[in-house]
Amino acid sequence: MLKLGIIFFFALTTSVSSQCFYKDDSAKKPNPEARLSLYKNQMEFTLNLFNTINNAVPDDNIFFSPFSVYHALLLGYFAASGETEKSLKESLRISDAQDKVNLLMAYKVDKRSRAFNNNSDSYEFTNANKMFVDNELHLRQCLLDILGEEIEALNFHQNPEQSRLHINEWVSRITKNNINDLIPVYGIMETTKLVLANAAYFKGVWASKFPAERTKKQVFFVSETRQTLVPFMRQKGIFHYMVSDELGAQILELPYKGNDISMYILLPPYSMKEGVTNIIANLTPERLATVVEEGYMGREVVVEIPKFTMERTLPLRPILETLGVGDLFKPSANFSTLSDDDGINFDDAIHKAKIQVDEEGTVAAAATAIFGFRSSRPAEPSRFIANFPFVYILYERPTSSILFMGVYRDPKK
Ligand SMILES: *[C@@H]1O[C@H](CO)[C@@H](O)[C@H](O)[C@H]1NC(C)=O
Ligand SMILES: *[C@@H]1O[C@H](CO)[C@@H](O)[C@H](O)[C@H]1NC(C)=O
Repeated sequence: MLKLGIIFFFALTTSVSSQCFYKDDSAKKPNPEARLSLYKNQMEFTLNLFNTINNAVPDDNIFFSPFSVYHALLLGYFAASGETEKSLKESLRISDAQDKVNLLMAYKVDKRSRAFNNNSDSYEFTNANKMFVDNELHLRQCLLDILGEEIEALNFHQNPEQSRLHINEWVSRITKNNINDLIPVYGIMETTKLVLANAAYFKGVWASKFPAERTKKQVFFVSETRQTLVPFMRQKGIFHYMVSDELGAQILELPYKGNDISMYILLPPYSMKEGVTNIIANLTPERLATVVEEGYMGREVVVEIPKFTMERTLPLRPILETLGVGDLFKPSANFSTLSDDDGINFDDAIHKAKIQVDEEGTVAAAATAIFGFRSSRPAEPSRFIANFPFVYILYERPTSSILFMGVYRDPKK
């Protein structure tokens, strides 16, 4: 936390000094709560987005990074004015008390502290986030001064295909070749003005690994009428496990090494068609806070979950239109903070995320603890068998943020 404090101070004293957002940006008082507010807004947006995506694809797997989407949209928000700014502000749940100057600080502090803490051997989290603009646009220098790293000019109007490949290569590089081909063929045209590239990758190491030799094929119940065999990882250990009536779910926490990030698996009480959708509809920031608070005891649990890799592309445009940010994609969009040129809008927004869930991990302290506890507990261990559709959330404790979330519905999709 000390490191973050220093960086925050540094950010405050080095950036905005012009009239980029307001008549006098430097007159905005620094707000030390800005980062907390950012994470709070992000959580409200996240749960709303999750619901919207689930309604759009009620029968498919879902995996995305709300963190990454939110931060990408923040870039759009910084660049927007007028009505476009207003609708983004509403969708991103930014309150009137939060000005753009402080929000930008919070954005930068978050970004820098992540770059600072990236040498972790317990997980990799990369968030590629950049706005690509056609190089014929006249960009306002002040925005380039403060968001230079986030904005890159390319020759869309003459070399759309080359620009597309350039963006895709950038994303591949940032995500260490885990996310490729972000923008599909013909995703960029001669007329394209703005592209928001947005991708995130996560790979963690369990605090308590699943012994590889215990992984076996088992039945996964996709629906009442359809089943399929998938590899299930198994272990018995001490885990946070709870049943939440409010959420309509049994919940298991699987921490990643380092203890900052955990996967929470939310499993409906039994295999029922609406179980997952009910959980998603029931999720509120308050209920999630109850789940992730550390107040409840660990207990011995037999865990069986599918081993899977999931890569999903999320067509953000229709989803954002449902969320009320449709203006971004219309000729009426107002990006006058970015440029005084007319007719600037996004053609599309694509988000891609990938996760690998496997046995990998180290023989951590938690694994040793398992055996010590066993004999003192005569009761049968709880059983957490995720063999029908479930919700999973990768939660980052220090920032109270959901980095990723998804629904595992159908192993064959
Ligand atoms: C964009 O918004 C700014 C600030 O509200 C306003 O001055 C400008 O006229 C708007 N531009 C267009 C094209 O609507
Ligand atoms: C991670 O840290 C190393 C130095 O420790 C640095 O070279 C690299 O650019 C950092 N990566 C990111 C994504 O910030």
